[in-house]
Amino acid sequence: MRFFIDTADLDEIRTLAATGLIDGATTNPSLVARSGRRFEDVIAEICAILPGPVSAEVTALDAPTMVAEGRYLARIATNVTVKVPLTPDGLKACRELSGDGIPVNVTLCFSAGQAILAAKAGATFVSPFVGRLDDIGLNGMDLIRDICAIYRAQPAFKTEVLVASVRGVNHVIEAARLGAHVATMPPAVVRALYAHPLTDKGLAAFMADWEKTGQKLDVGNSKPRAAE
Ligand code: E4P
Repeated sequence: MRFFIDTADLDEIRTLAATGLIDGATTNPSLVARSGRRFEDVIAEICAILPGPVSAEVTALDAPTMVAEGRYLARIATNVTVKVPLTPDGLKACRELSGDGIPVNVTLCFSAGQAILAAKAGATFVSPFVGRLDDIGLNGMDLIRDICAIYRAQPAFKTEVLVASVRGVNHVIEAARLGAHVATMPPAVVRALYAHPLTDKGLAAFMADWEKTGQKLDVGNSKPRAAE
């Protein structure tokens, strides 16, 4: 499963890109507004940091303008994925942009029926929002289970499931278990994936015991690895 970072905060993206574990990024108008920067500049900078897909969302509501915006956004960098909303116009734009060879992420997916439409429209990714479904008392991961099963049963569908609106590590673990292709995570969730109190406790004990040996690894005196 690939990891995307769900933010327009360039410092966070730089820091987490250095882990080597981040494959791409997603943004949306709310995240761009929070960054306080010009949209195109933010996207260009993210695309320069991360080699993988970077989702940039159109801002129009009608298909012809979405297509024009999508073509414009796709010219910012070769790794831009154009994000369109799951509306009739969004899916029309998706078909047209996909036909041009521009990758499209269909966002704001809240049902399996919508995910089927996104696949029919040739989307590269569909983004079901699990956290927002949980927020209204439903189980967002049930939708991921449904979509993954449907896409597996329909080999002609090439769309990847991009789990969005991720709120915690359990969403990521369950997305991986269900076979989702991508999870896009806020930086805090990426960090939380590393964390376990027993790791911290175990490491502290190992370090204390190592200290007692009084030894140091002689790394300055490395020899080539012996041939096996
Ligand atoms: C992803 O593409 C979405 O922009 C994002 O995951 C939405 O998350 P939220 O529901 O936490 O705003």
